[in-house]
Amino acid sequence: MSHHLSKKSVSQFVKSALPYLIVGSTTVVISGIALLYTFQCNLIYTANYPKGSRKHVPKPSDYDIPYISVILETNDDVKIRAYVCKRTDEAGTRPTILMFHGNGGNMGHRLPIAEKFYKNFRFNVMLVSYRGYGKSDGSPSESGLRLDAQAALDYIKQDKILKDTKLIIYGQSLGASVAIDLVYRNESKVDALIVENTFLSIPKVIPHIVPKLRYLTFICSEIWPSDSYITKLRTVPILFLSGSNDELVPPQHMRTLYELANTSGGKMFQEIKNGSHYDTVSQPDYFSKVGEFFIKMLGEEFC
Ligand SMILES: *[C@@H]1O[C@H](CO)[C@@H](O)[C@H](O)[C@H]1NC(C)=O
Ligand SMILES: *[C@@H]1O[C@H](CO)[C@@H](O)[C@H](O)[C@H]1NC(C)=O
Ligand SMILES: *[C@@H]1O[C@H](CO)[C@@H](O)[C@H](O)[C@H]1NC(C)=O
Repeated sequence: MSHHLSKKSVSQFVKSALPYLIVGSTTVVISGIALLYTFQCNLIYTANYPKGSRKHVPKPSDYDIPYISVILETNDDVKIRAYVCKRTDEAGTRPTILMFHGNGGNMGHRLPIAEKFYKNFRFNVMLVSYRGYGKSDGSPSESGLRLDAQAALDYIKQDKILKDTKLIIYGQSLGASVAIDLVYRNESKVDALIVENTFLSIPKVIPHIVPKLRYLTFICSEIWPSDSYITKLRTVPILFLSGSNDELVPPQHMRTLYELANTSGGKMFQEIKNGSHYDTVSQPDYFSKVGEFFIKMLGEEFC
Protein backbone atom coordinates (compact mmCIF):
# COMPACT_ATOMS: atom_id res chain seq x y z
CA MET A 1 0.00 0.00 0.00
CA SER A 2 1.13 3.47 -0.82
CA HIS A 3 2.22 5.26 2.29
CA HIS A 4 1.39 8.67 0.95
CA LEU A 5 -2.03 9.99 0.11
CA SER A 6 -2.77 10.47 -3.57
CA LYS A 7 -4.22 13.76 -4.74
CA LYS A 8 -7.45 11.95 -5.43
CA SER A 9 -7.83 10.58 -1.93
CA VAL A 10 -7.09 14.00 -0.45
CA SER A 11 -9.76 15.65 -2.52
CA GLN A 12 -12.20 12.87 -1.63
CA PHE A 13 -11.36 13.33 2.00
CA VAL A 14 -11.89 17.08 1.77
CA LYS A 15 -15.22 16.64 0.00
CA SER A 16 -16.60 14.22 2.52
CA ALA A 17 -15.19 16.16 5.46
CA LEU A 18 -16.12 19.62 4.25
CA PRO A 19 -19.53 19.82 5.90
CA TYR A 20 -17.99 18.79 9.20
CA LEU A 21 -15.13 21.22 8.78
CA ILE A 22 -17.54 24.09 8.16
CA VAL A 23 -19.75 23.17 11.08
CA GLY A 24 -16.69 22.59 13.21
CA SER A 25 -14.92 25.83 12.41
CA THR A 26 -18.14 27.82 12.74
CA THR A 27 -18.55 26.35 16.19
CA VAL A 28 -14.98 27.29 16.99
CA VAL A 29 -15.54 30.84 15.73
CA ILE A 30 -18.84 31.19 17.57
CA SER A 31 -17.48 29.84 20.81
CA GLY A 32 -14.41 32.02 20.29
CA ILE A 33 -16.64 35.07 19.97
CA ALA A 34 -18.72 33.98 22.95
CA LEU A 35 -15.55 33.57 24.94
CA LEU A 36 -14.26 36.97 23.89
CA TYR A 37 -17.63 38.47 24.72
CA THR A 38 -17.59 37.00 28.21
CA PHE A 39 -13.94 37.88 28.61
CA GLN A 40 -14.69 41.39 27.48
CA CYS A 41 -17.51 41.82 29.97
CA ASN A 42 -15.36 40.41 32.77
CA LEU A 43 -12.59 42.76 31.74
CA ILE A 44 -14.79 45.83 31.61
CA TYR A 45 -17.13 45.13 34.51
CA THR A 46 -14.85 43.94 37.30
CA ALA A 47 -17.61 43.59 39.87
CA ASN A 48 -15.74 40.97 41.91
CA TYR A 49 -12.77 43.20 42.43
CA PRO A 50 -11.75 44.07 45.13
CA LYS A 51 -12.42 40.63 46.57
CA GLY A 52 -15.65 40.40 48.51
CA SER A 53 -17.31 43.26 46.62
CA ARG A 54 -20.39 41.15 45.89
CA LYS A 55 -20.90 40.42 49.57
CA HIS A 56 -19.74 43.39 51.56
CA VAL A 57 -21.27 46.78 50.91
CA PRO A 58 -20.35 49.47 53.46
CA LYS A 59 -23.32 51.48 54.75
CA PRO A 60 -23.78 55.26 55.01
CA SER A 61 -24.35 54.82 58.74
CA ASP A 62 -20.68 53.74 58.96
CA TYR A 63 -20.03 57.39 58.07
CA ASP A 64 -22.77 58.85 60.29
CA ILE A 65 -24.92 59.64 57.29
CA PRO A 66 -28.67 59.03 57.68
CA TYR A 67 -30.06 56.97 54.79
CA ILE A 68 -32.60 54.57 53.48
CA SER A 69 -31.67 51.49 51.50
CA VAL A 70 -33.91 51.05 48.46
CA ILE A 71 -34.45 48.36 45.84
CA LEU A 72 -35.07 49.76 42.39
CA GLU A 73 -36.84 47.70 39.78
CA THR A 74 -35.48 48.44 36.32
CA ASN A 75 -37.48 48.51 33.10
CA ASP A 76 -36.33 44.98 32.32
CA ASP A 77 -37.26 43.76 35.83
CA VAL A 78 -33.85 43.57 37.47
CA LYS A 79 -33.67 44.49 41.14
CA ILE A 80 -30.78 46.77 41.98
CA ARG A 81 -29.75 48.37 45.27
CA ALA A 82 -29.35 52.02 46.10
CA TYR A 83 -28.77 54.29 49.08
CA VAL A 84 -30.74 57.50 49.40
CA CYS A 85 -29.26 59.99 51.86
CA LYS A 86 -31.48 63.03 52.39
CA ARG A 87 -30.51 66.12 54.35
CA THR A 88 -32.45 65.89 57.56
CA ASP A 89 -33.92 69.42 57.81
CA GLU A 90 -33.22 70.93 54.43
CA ALA A 91 -33.67 68.14 51.88
CA GLY A 92 -36.13 70.15 49.79
CA THR A 93 -33.95 73.23 49.52
CA ARG A 94 -30.58 71.60 48.85
CA PRO A 95 -29.35 70.09 45.55
CA THR A 96 -29.26 66.32 44.99
CA ILE A 97 -26.28 64.46 43.56
CA LEU A 98 -26.64 61.07 41.90
CA MET A 99 -23.36 59.14 41.91
CA PHE A 100 -22.26 56.48 39.41
CA HIS A 101 -19.24 54.41 40.38
CA GLY A 102 -16.36 53.06 38.27
CA ASN A 103 -15.99 49.50 37.08
CA GLY A 104 -14.73 47.91 40.31
CA GLY A 105 -16.30 47.44 43.72
CA ASN A 106 -19.74 48.72 44.66
CA MET A 107 -21.54 51.85 45.82
CA GLY A 108 -20.39 51.36 49.42
CA HIS A 109 -16.78 51.91 48.40
CA ARG A 110 -17.68 55.43 47.26
CA LEU A 111 -19.08 56.55 50.60
CA PRO A 112 -15.98 58.65 51.44
CA ILE A 113 -16.87 60.74 48.37
CA ALA A 114 -20.56 60.78 49.25
CA GLU A 115 -19.56 61.98 52.71
CA LYS A 116 -17.91 65.09 51.25
CA PHE A 117 -20.97 65.87 49.16
CA TYR A 118 -23.31 65.23 52.07
CA LYS A 119 -21.42 66.93 54.88
CA ASN A 120 -19.33 69.65 53.20
CA PHE A 121 -21.63 70.60 50.33
CA ARG A 122 -24.84 69.70 52.20
CA PHE A 123 -26.28 67.84 49.20
CA ASN A 124 -28.78 65.03 49.24
CA VAL A 125 -26.90 62.02 47.87
CA MET A 126 -28.04 58.93 46.01
CA LEU A 127 -25.69 56.03 45.18
CA VAL A 128 -26.47 52.89 43.19
CA SER A 129 -24.77 49.56 42.66
CA TYR A 130 -25.29 48.61 39.03
CA ARG A 131 -26.73 45.21 38.15
CA GLY A 132 -24.21 42.49 38.97
CA TYR A 133 -22.44 44.75 41.48
CA GLY A 134 -22.61 44.64 45.26
CA LYS A 135 -25.91 43.07 46.24
CA SER A 136 -27.76 44.06 43.08
CA ASP A 137 -29.20 41.24 40.97
CA GLY A 138 -28.37 40.56 37.33
CA SER A 139 -25.16 40.85 35.37
CA PRO A 140 -23.63 43.99 33.87
CA SER A 141 -23.78 45.16 30.26
CA GLU A 142 -24.02 48.50 28.52
CA SER A 143 -27.74 48.19 27.79
CA GLY A 144 -28.35 47.02 31.36
CA LEU A 145 -26.42 49.77 33.11
CA ARG A 146 -28.30 52.29 31.00
CA LEU A 147 -31.57 51.00 32.46
CA ASP A 148 -30.10 51.02 35.97
CA ALA A 149 -29.20 54.69 35.60
CA GLN A 150 -32.65 55.48 34.28
CA ALA A 151 -34.25 53.70 37.24
CA ALA A 152 -32.20 55.81 39.65
CA LEU A 153 -33.17 59.03 37.89
CA ASP A 154 -36.82 57.99 37.83
CA TYR A 155 -36.66 57.30 41.56
CA ILE A 156 -35.45 60.85 42.22
CA LYS A 157 -38.07 62.31 39.90
CA GLN A 158 -40.83 60.41 41.69
CA ASP A 159 -39.69 61.27 45.19
CA LYS A 160 -41.96 63.89 46.81
CA ILE A 161 -39.03 65.94 48.10
CA LEU A 162 -36.15 65.22 45.75
CA LYS A 163 -38.07 65.72 42.52
CA ASP A 164 -37.97 69.51 42.82
CA THR A 165 -34.35 69.85 43.90
CA LYS A 166 -31.48 70.82 41.59
CA LEU A 167 -29.94 67.65 40.21
CA ILE A 168 -26.26 66.92 39.62
CA ILE A 169 -25.13 63.71 37.92
CA TYR A 170 -21.63 62.57 38.90
CA GLY A 171 -19.62 59.70 37.43
CA GLN A 172 -16.09 58.37 37.69
CA SER A 173 -14.42 56.44 34.88
CA LEU A 174 -16.98 53.92 33.55
CA GLY A 175 -19.54 55.68 35.77
CA ALA A 176 -18.92 58.86 33.78
CA SER A 177 -19.91 56.97 30.60
CA VAL A 178 -23.09 55.97 32.40
CA ALA A 179 -23.63 59.58 33.50
CA ILE A 180 -23.08 61.02 30.00
CA ASP A 181 -25.41 58.41 28.53
CA LEU A 182 -28.14 59.26 31.05
CA VAL A 183 -27.85 63.02 30.59
CA TYR A 184 -27.85 62.56 26.81
CA ARG A 185 -31.24 60.87 27.16
CA ASN A 186 -32.70 63.08 29.87
CA GLU A 187 -30.94 66.40 29.68
CA SER A 188 -33.99 68.46 30.57
CA LYS A 189 -34.14 66.82 34.00
CA VAL A 190 -30.52 67.54 34.93
CA ASP A 191 -28.85 70.75 36.19
CA ALA A 192 -25.18 69.76 36.10
CA LEU A 193 -22.87 66.94 34.98
CA ILE A 194 -19.51 66.04 36.55
CA VAL A 195 -17.23 63.49 34.90
CA GLU A 196 -13.88 62.20 36.14
CA ASN A 197 -11.11 60.22 34.38
CA THR A 198 -13.26 58.78 31.66
CA PHE A 199 -12.65 57.63 28.10
CA LEU A 200 -13.86 58.51 24.60
CA SER A 201 -15.35 55.04 24.10
CA ILE A 202 -14.49 51.43 24.95
CA PRO A 203 -13.05 50.62 21.48
CA LYS A 204 -10.87 53.74 21.70
CA VAL A 205 -9.52 52.99 25.16
CA ILE A 206 -8.93 49.22 24.88
CA PRO A 207 -5.73 49.61 22.81
CA HIS A 208 -4.24 51.59 25.73
CA ILE A 209 -5.34 49.20 28.44
CA VAL A 210 -4.75 45.86 26.70
CA PRO A 211 -2.48 46.49 23.70
CA LYS A 212 -2.74 42.83 22.69
CA LEU A 213 -6.43 43.29 21.94
CA ARG A 214 -5.79 46.28 19.72
CA TYR A 215 -6.85 44.43 16.54
CA LEU A 216 -9.90 42.91 18.13
CA THR A 217 -11.72 46.08 19.09
CA PHE A 218 -14.13 45.48 16.20
CA ILE A 219 -15.53 42.65 18.26
CA CYS A 220 -16.48 44.95 21.16
CA SER A 221 -20.16 44.85 21.79
CA GLU A 222 -19.73 47.31 24.62
CA ILE A 223 -19.16 50.77 23.20
CA TRP A 224 -20.12 53.52 25.68
CA PRO A 225 -19.79 56.20 22.95
CA SER A 226 -19.20 59.22 25.19
CA ASP A 227 -17.33 60.99 22.39
CA SER A 228 -20.53 61.02 20.39
CA TYR A 229 -23.05 61.74 23.18
CA ILE A 230 -21.02 64.57 24.70
CA THR A 231 -21.42 66.54 21.48
CA LYS A 232 -25.20 66.23 21.72
CA LEU A 233 -25.58 67.86 25.13
CA ARG A 234 -27.07 71.29 24.61
CA THR A 235 -27.76 73.02 27.91
CA VAL A 236 -26.21 71.24 30.88
CA PRO A 237 -23.07 72.76 32.53
CA ILE A 238 -20.27 70.17 32.55
CA LEU A 239 -17.22 69.77 34.81
CA PHE A 240 -14.33 67.61 33.58
CA LEU A 241 -12.00 66.38 36.35
CA SER A 242 -8.80 64.94 34.93
CA GLY A 243 -6.01 63.33 36.93
CA SER A 244 -2.72 64.42 35.32
CA ASN A 245 -1.13 61.03 36.13
CA ASP A 246 -3.94 58.76 34.97
CA GLU A 247 -2.06 55.61 33.98
CA LEU A 248 -5.13 53.70 32.75
CA VAL A 249 -7.09 56.15 30.63
CA PRO A 250 -4.80 58.62 28.81
CA PRO A 251 -5.70 62.15 30.06
CA GLN A 252 -5.95 63.13 26.40
CA HIS A 253 -9.33 61.37 26.35
CA MET A 254 -10.65 63.82 28.95
CA ARG A 255 -9.15 66.75 27.07
CA THR A 256 -10.82 65.64 23.83
CA LEU A 257 -14.18 65.11 25.52
CA TYR A 258 -13.91 68.63 26.92
CA GLU A 259 -13.12 70.04 23.49
CA LEU A 260 -16.01 68.13 21.92
CA ALA A 261 -18.57 69.43 24.41
CA ASN A 262 -20.79 72.15 22.96
CA THR A 263 -23.24 73.13 25.65
CA SER A 264 -24.74 76.54 26.29
CA GLY A 265 -24.53 75.80 30.04
CA GLY A 266 -20.75 76.09 29.86
CA LYS A 267 -17.89 73.69 30.48
CA MET A 268 -14.93 73.69 32.86
CA PHE A 269 -11.78 71.57 32.71
CA GLN A 270 -9.99 71.01 36.02
CA GLU A 271 -6.69 69.19 35.92
CA ILE A 272 -5.95 67.43 39.20
CA LYS A 273 -2.18 67.37 39.67
CA ASN A 274 -0.68 64.02 40.73
CA GLY A 275 -4.05 62.31 40.30
CA SER A 276 -3.78 58.73 39.02
CA HIS A 277 -6.79 56.82 37.70
CA TYR A 278 -7.89 55.63 41.12
CA ASP A 279 -6.67 58.33 43.51
CA THR A 280 -7.60 61.55 41.73
CA VAL A 281 -10.47 62.00 44.17
CA SER A 282 -8.02 61.81 47.10
CA GLN A 283 -5.83 64.68 45.89
CA PRO A 284 -5.93 67.67 48.24
CA ASP A 285 -7.45 70.13 45.75
CA TYR A 286 -10.14 67.86 44.28
CA PHE A 287 -13.14 69.12 46.21
CA SER A 288 -12.08 72.76 46.11
CA LYS A 289 -11.97 72.45 42.32
CA VAL A 290 -15.44 70.91 42.37
CA GLY A 291 -16.59 73.79 44.59
CA GLU A 292 -15.16 76.29 42.15
CA PHE A 293 -17.37 74.79 39.43
CA PHE A 294 -20.46 75.19 41.62
CA ILE A 295 -19.64 78.81 42.49
CA LYS A 296 -18.62 79.93 39.01
CA MET A 297 -21.10 78.03 36.91
CA LEU A 298 -24.10 77.19 39.04
CA GLY A 299 -24.45 79.91 41.61
CA GLU A 300 -25.04 80.27 45.30
CA GLU A 301 -27.74 77.69 45.77
CA PHE A 302 -25.12 74.98 45.07
CA CYS A 303 -22.70 76.23 47.68
C1 LIG B 1 -35.52 60.00 29.52
O1 LIG B 1 -34.93 58.91 28.86
C2 LIG B 1 -35.79 57.81 28.67
C3 LIG B 1 -35.00 56.69 28.05
O2 LIG B 1 -34.47 57.05 26.82
C4 LIG B 1 -36.99 58.23 27.80
O3 LIG B 1 -37.89 57.15 27.73
C5 LIG B 1 -37.65 59.44 28.42
O4 LIG B 1 -38.63 59.91 27.54
C6 LIG B 1 -36.65 60.53 28.69
N1 LIG B 1 -37.30 61.63 29.34
C7 LIG B 1 -37.09 62.89 29.01
C8 LIG B 1 -37.85 63.92 29.77
O5 LIG B 1 -36.29 63.23 28.15
C1 LIG C 1 -23.15 73.66 18.89
O1 LIG C 1 -24.45 73.92 19.36
C2 LIG C 1 -25.20 74.84 18.57
C3 LIG C 1 -26.57 75.04 19.20
O2 LIG C 1 -26.59 74.92 20.57
C4 LIG C 1 -25.36 74.31 17.16
O3 LIG C 1 -26.01 75.28 16.37
C5 LIG C 1 -24.00 73.98 16.57
O4 LIG C 1 -24.17 73.36 15.32
C6 LIG C 1 -23.22 73.05 17.49
N1 LIG C 1 -21.89 72.82 16.97
C7 LIG C 1 -21.42 71.60 16.74
C8 LIG C 1 -20.03 71.52 16.23
O5 LIG C 1 -22.09 70.59 16.94
C1 LIG D 1 2.64 66.18 43.59
O1 LIG D 1 3.57 65.23 44.11
C2 LIG D 1 4.84 65.75 44.36
C3 LIG D 1 5.75 64.62 44.76
O2 LIG D 1 5.13 63.76 45.68
C4 LIG D 1 4.74 66.85 45.43
O3 LIG D 1 5.99 67.42 45.68
C5 LIG D 1 3.76 67.94 44.95
O4 LIG D 1 3.57 68.89 45.98
C6 LIG D 1 2.44 67.32 44.57
N1 LIG D 1 1.58 68.36 43.98
C7 LIG D 1 0.32 68.55 44.37
C8 LIG D 1 -0.42 69.65 43.67
O5 LIG D 1 -0.23 67.88 45.23
